[in-house]
Amino acid sequence: MSDDVLAQLRWLRTPEGTAGVARAAALLAEGADLLTGLARLRAEVGAEHAGPAWELARLRARARPLFGADADVLFLTADTLEQAGRPALATRRARRLLGDDADSAADLGCASGTDTVALARAGATVLAVDTDPVARELTAANAEALGVADRVWVVAGDAVELVDAARGGEVAGCGAAVLDPARRAGGRRQLDPDRWSPPWSTVVTLLERMPRAVVKVAPGLDHERVPAGVEAEWVSAGGSIVEALLWGRGVSSVWRRASLVRDGAVLELTADADPGPAPTGPVRGRLHEPDPAVIRSGLVSLVAADLGATLVDPTIAYLTSDVEAGSPWVSSYRVDEVLPFNLKKLKALLRARDVGRVVVKKRGSAIEPEALARQLRGPGAGTATVVVTRVAGTPTALVCDLR
Ligand SMILES: C[S@@+](CC[C@H](N)C(=O)[O-])C[C@H]1O[C@@H](n2cnc3c(N)ncnc32)[C@H](O)[C@@H]1O
Repeated sequence: MSDDVLAQLRWLRTPEGTAGVARAAALLAEGADLLTGLARLRAEVGAEHAGPAWELARLRARARPLFGADADVLFLTADTLEQAGRPALATRRARRLLGDDADSAADLGCASGTDTVALARAGATVLAVDTDPVARELTAANAEALGVADRVWVVAGDAVELVDAARGGEVAGCGAAVLDPARRAGGRRQLDPDRWSPPWSTVVTLLERMPRAVVKVAPGLDHERVPAGVEAEWVSAGGSIVEALLWGRGVSSVWRRASLVRDGAVLELTADADPGPAPTGPVRGRLHEPDPAVIRSGLVSLVAADLGATLVDPTIAYLTSDVEAGSPWVSSYRVDEVLPFNLKKLKALLRARDVGRVVVKKRGSAIEPEALARQLRGPGAGTATVVVTRVAGTPTALVCDLR
């Protein structure tokens, strides 16, 4: 199977392959459907190559929003595109990892080479390692396509063995390392870090032996697992966590970092030590939902202190304060009504306030937001946000932003 994929990839890199993918991209841009596109391509590049050319053109179009113009020359498979991180964040990571003095880096599990290319563009000589021959072919092709092949060596190797052999702050002769374990197998997410590839034990060994290292981990990683002296960072964009990182001790500068990508810039919130929980208090005029990077990084109490806010419940990450927040770290709502959660009473209240359309948010409740929003919909012209949560342990509905 991988032999077929490799043969196709090699063809895609030839001048005929390049022309075939360009033709497929043009057909896609014209809005050709799969059958029409493939029929035309078969006639032009042959039955054997039509499918791969079409697939690569489709994957490049899918990659474009995140990869920009690079996408037009990238070599990808559906799997490696799914595994690839955001290039802008790979660049940010590479710069921080290399600092001013690292000039070589190992990419331990390079897939299609997003990190390899970012490290090379940041000025390092890169040893890109993968056990998968397709990944190695893709990384070599992408390094060449993006003009950094002279700084990239792609080799077959097992990251577990290389990390086990790391000594004196070097792995495979490199002074810095990126490890991004595969966290999916058979199309399913591997929740247990011991089942990642390479597994958690390799992550720990790398962080022990390589001061200049960064490991991409699952956003849900338990804080308990983070080794002492290792900075953990959660990065969010558009209200979701887009990556979680563990930094080697030579790069770590704080206990935890929450980073928020907004309008092309990155805002950061840090703590040198665990700031502990925020205080709890009664619901006040505003409700604030912290950004997921703040919640995951354990920094809710910093934001609470900044806003003069308290938690509505010690176990729930909703904050409340008297005044509007104007903070990038929270989404805020005006609280208009607070009532114990009861569907009938909630419906009656919304009817009485002429509310027709409702957005439901929840935290610490088993309700299904879309289903409840449908149940609460009415004939009125007004709108509201209904937040279902626990307040001091009691299931509660907060009716917010009545309009
Ligand atoms: C999540 S992907 C890396 C994605 C890459 N950083 C990117 O942003 O495009 C993980 C890669 O590690 C490779 N891999 C898994 N176990 C490995 C091992 N023991 N040694 C080397 N590579 C390994 C997989 O083949 C896969 O290509």
